[in-house]
Amino acid sequence: MALCSNSELARGTFVMEVLANHLLCDEHYLLRLHLVGGGFPATQPGQFVQLQCRGVSDRGGLRTVDWDDSGWLKLTGAELKGAEPLLRRPMSLAGRCDTDEGVELEIIYRVVGAGTRWLSAVGTGETLGVLGPLGNAFTIRGDVKPLAALVGGGVGIPPMIYLAATLRAVGSKKTVAFCGMRSANLLPLGFVPGANVSADGRPTSSIADFARYGAASVVTTDDGSLGVRGFVTDALEKWIDRQADAAERLVVYVCGPERMMRKAGEMCIARGVECQLLLERYMACGMGTCQSCVCKIRADNPQGWEYKLCCSDGPVFGAGEVVWEGPLR
Ligand SMILES: Cc1cc2nc3c(=O)[nH]c(=O)nc-3n(C[C@H](O)[C@H](O)[C@H](O)COP(=O)(O)OP(=O)(O)OC[C@H]3O[C@@H](n4cnc5c(N)ncnc54)[C@H](O)[C@@H]3O)c2cc1C
Ligand code: FES
Repeated sequence: MALCSNSELARGTFVMEVLANHLLCDEHYLLRLHLVGGGFPATQPGQFVQLQCRGVSDRGGLRTVDWDDSGWLKLTGAELKGAEPLLRRPMSLAGRCDTDEGVELEIIYRVVGAGTRWLSAVGTGETLGVLGPLGNAFTIRGDVKPLAALVGGGVGIPPMIYLAATLRAVGSKKTVAFCGMRSANLLPLGFVPGANVSADGRPTSSIADFARYGAASVVTTDDGSLGVRGFVTDALEKWIDRQADAAERLVVYVCGPERMMRKAGEMCIARGVECQLLLERYMACGMGTCQSCVCKIRADNPQGWEYKLCCSDGPVFGAGEVVWEGPLR
């Protein structure tokens, strides 16, 4: 099935004000950005923005790298990986809200290196450079009321929140979010007061970020500290097998570590269930120029595949389109 291309939609660079930037769990932050007066192009779940993890200048523009016109721009390790990295960092949209005062974007990010560490120190009222929206989006079926499984592992969970909101808006029949992480202290989500996370894989309305949109959730942790002990793909497999009567209406959306996405994709293909994967590759430009984000996608040519760009052809691809390297271990 063809996934919608967003290349023709508008994008731009924006200076946005930080409304909130606070810890959600041991490693993840919630970032809420505000663009006064609206004007941020239309967005869809699955799309991402490139965040400038360096300061905005006093004149309101982005603080750039000095280039004296005497030759090639000479970048050193400090510009690329220093405290204020040159390259923007890709982040999925976890939510969007249009109000009378403007547009709000939500991002949930995990601190893993220089850029996200810089981001975590940004305070309320400061400004950030945002390029976007970028990439294609998840495809939402309009022909039937879909039954949707939203599968997120670690930093793959945020785009599933935006997807849950959109599925609710289009009247999805049933949505279940599967949230996997290593341990309970890495859950970047809030609980519904008084609700219990089930330890047997039964979906419950326990996670507030999904329950808000009528979606039930299943939580798995590798160490068993919350929800079901084990991998999120195991809980997903058991649940899919209980939906056998509705397989043709079921759509599985996945984002997370590559091994998890591959396992979920192969499981769905084996059962004839539609599955869409949001791939995360290293990105520099984020808009199809630098070729740093290639992925192998099946093609009708002698070798059976071709390189596509994760940032502009994706990041969402059908599970059957992706060519994985080596055996699944
Ligand atoms: C389309 C897309 C959407 C994303 N959405 C989110 C999101 O919603 N929330 C979130 O926390 N992160 C998300 N990421 C990953 C995020 O972009 C990286 O974690 C971030 O760029 C790291 O920047 P850094 O400077 O802090 O780390 P760096 O110093 O650049 O790297 C630190 C560590 O993170 C690893 N890393 C860096 N970039 C990536 C990447 N693209 N994929 C996998 N590992 C990486 C490096 O190998 C290294 O081990 C997304 C990535 C893509 C491509
Ligand atoms: S990140 Fe530059 S082409 Fe994809």
